[in-house]
Amino acid sequence: EIKKKNTFGIQTLTGWLLKQEQAGVIDAELTIVLSSISMACKQIASLVQRASISNLTGVQGAVNVQGRTRRSLTSSLMSGRTGIIASEEEDVPVAVEESYSGNYIVVFDPLDGSSNIDAAVSTGSIFGIYSPNDECLADIGDDNTLDNAGQRCIVNVCQPGSNLLAAGYCMYSSSVIFVITIGTGVFAFTLDPMYGEFVLTQQNIQIPKAGKIYSFNEGNYQLWDDKLKKYIDDLKDPGPSGKPYSARYIGSLVGDFHRTLLYGGIYGYPRDKKSKNGKLRLLYECAPMSFIAEQAGGKGSDGHQRILDIQPVEIHQRVPLYIGSQEEVEKLEKYLV
Ligand code: AHG
Ligand code: MN
Ligand code: MN
Ligand code: MN
Repeated sequence: EIKKKNTFGIQTLTGWLLKQEQAGVIDAELTIVLSSISMACKQIASLVQRASISNLTGVQGAVNVQGRTRRSLTSSLMSGRTGIIASEEEDVPVAVEESYSGNYIVVFDPLDGSSNIDAAVSTGSIFGIYSPNDECLADIGDDNTLDNAGQRCIVNVCQPGSNLLAAGYCMYSSSVIFVITIGTGVFAFTLDPMYGEFVLTQQNIQIPKAGKIYSFNEGNYQLWDDKLKKYIDDLKDPGPSGKPYSARYIGSLVGDFHRTLLYGGIYGYPRDKKSKNGKLRLLYECAPMSFIAEQAGGKGSDGHQRILDIQPVEIHQRVPLYIGSQEEVEKLEKYLV
């Protein structure tokens, strides 16, 4: 009797994307866009890893590393047939030249948590992908402007996060981890440094329903609303169990979110007296992360409403963000009523 060989082996990101394409979940063009993004993330991972060797730390170095991460993502996306690119690090979205342009709109934050670079602490890249809709196409025609480089630009990428087709992030930490959703759950791939490939390490990730970790920049406490102060004060109350919540804050949304995704709890960037809408950007940070959170059974809220329902009015719009375990986000929302 011949025993069948065990055929389950490693699944690469490229292999997984092709499988999704064959199953009709994504089309060929989106497959190319996603694989271009993963390629750029590998380049950024090596830039970040070598930052202190190639003199990319310090004030000027940080500017250079940001410029280089932005260029990596932008050039990969251009060759990957993306129609419109909007980035946290560009003033206006760039419409890719006709001959290169494809159908998709990509929004991204090339290097998030950039203040961590000099200390070799976690950073990340965040992306979201929309298909163009007619209203947005109308905006391209009407609101053409030129950026500093004279490129053709649009002023408005107008879709709410609920229209996202795909979103993900890459975290540059003790491992390089690429997390993605195409609307069928959340998958994590780890960069295998031996082969230079992302390999599937977690399928269908679910955020724990509750979790006793909170992640807020409490340095802003005095600037917060009284209702929020009360919420945070209550998390610190040991109560009958004798165990208060634990505080964890890296100052890198990607790192803080990734921990929340795996361990549960809540991440928050509230509005305060000096920043009326908080700090994080709806398009590049809050909406993609909220799509991932929801796909993992969690929630993303501005304290009152679902982040994915917010209709953007301008591309660099900021909103407060509360994201993580369903029960933790709902508990916070009750305090803010
Ligand atoms: P970026 O580096 O892309 O500008 O984003 C920084 C963001 C985010 O990564 C992080 O969660 C937050 O800023 C930290 O802000 P504070 O330093 O105000 O806590
Ligand atoms: Mn920034
Ligand atoms: Mn950012
Ligand atoms: Mn950034």
